Amino acid sequence: VIRALPSWRSLWRTTRERTGDEVITRRLIEEASGLEGGALVLALDEPATAVCVLDLDEMLQRYEAGEPLQHILGHWGFRYLELVVSPAVLIPRPETEVVVDLALAELARLGGRRVADLGTGSGAIALSIASETTGVEVFATDSSHAALAVASANLSALGRKVASRVCLFEGDWYRALPTHLAGSFDVIVANPPYIAEGEWSALDDLVRLHDPRQALVAGPSGTEAIEAVVGGAPEWLSSHGSVVVELAPHQASAALTLASAAGLEDATVLPDLTGRQRVLLARR
Ligand SMILES: C[S@@+](CC[C@H](N)C(=O)[O-])C[C@H]1O[C@@H](n2cnc3c(N)ncnc32)[C@H](O)[C@@H]1O
Repeated sequence: VIRALPSWRSLWRTTRERTGDEVITRRLIEEASGLEGGALVLALDEPATAVCVLDLDEMLQRYEAGEPLQHILGHWGFRYLELVVSPAVLIPRPETEVVVDLALAELARLGGRRVADLGTGSGAIALSIASETTGVEVFATDSSHAALAVASANLSALGRKVASRVCLFEGDWYRALPTHLAGSFDVIVANPPYIAEGEWSALDDLVRLHDPRQALVAGPSGTEAIEAVVGGAPEWLSSHGSVVVELAPHQASAALTLASAAGLEDATVLPDLTGRQRVLLARR
């Protein structure tokens, strides 16, 4: 029996029924059709190809099985970049975009030329900073080999001019960096793991089952990684350089204590776009 292939309009309707969400429906239809905006509107009454229908159904089955949309699409937007994402990396979050804003503002204030992004994951912070500046060198590290492979894929998509200013290093926080760079970073930025071991089981399934545990859990207290990044900053920052670290709102006062214990100055915690205490800024 030869059955007529459905139009994109009817696929949109069945996808909307299966997901119950208009935004997710649009993203899946865009992915399956390879079209967006006006081109997709013009194609709505065209029949989809058999391959597209199968692709869409496979994505819907993954969505219904509880996979995050970002993993199903295999890419996600962060600031001006469209990044490859996989289960090896944290899905880039909107609150981290504010961390980049602050790092860029500090860099501009200092007229800085060298940045370290510790725990780079997909490369979201490092690659945004490199692509939104000129002449700034970015050193990005991660202890996860698999995460660095994703960062490397994202780096290659940036084009030679930007990519030539970014270096990736594997290893534990500052130990990953070449020692001769100590004292030379104008800005050190990190979105480190900041969840306590005891908080892990209470996390939403979408996060707990799909983001890497190593990207989320810092240790028994949750502040271990913040402490490693802040504690090492004085040795690696240039004079007057700044450290910018994402944290959970309830960690604000602990982070200020860590900054003062490290001998850093002007320490303050700034809010994200929803007004929650979210980013430690401190200066050498
Ligand atoms: C919260 S994720 C942030 C990823 C990315 N920077 C972002 O903002 O989307 C934390 C990252 O730190 C890395 N990480 C965890 N422990 C580390 C360590 N000891 N040294 C270096 N990186 C580490 C994880 O692999 C993960 O990629």
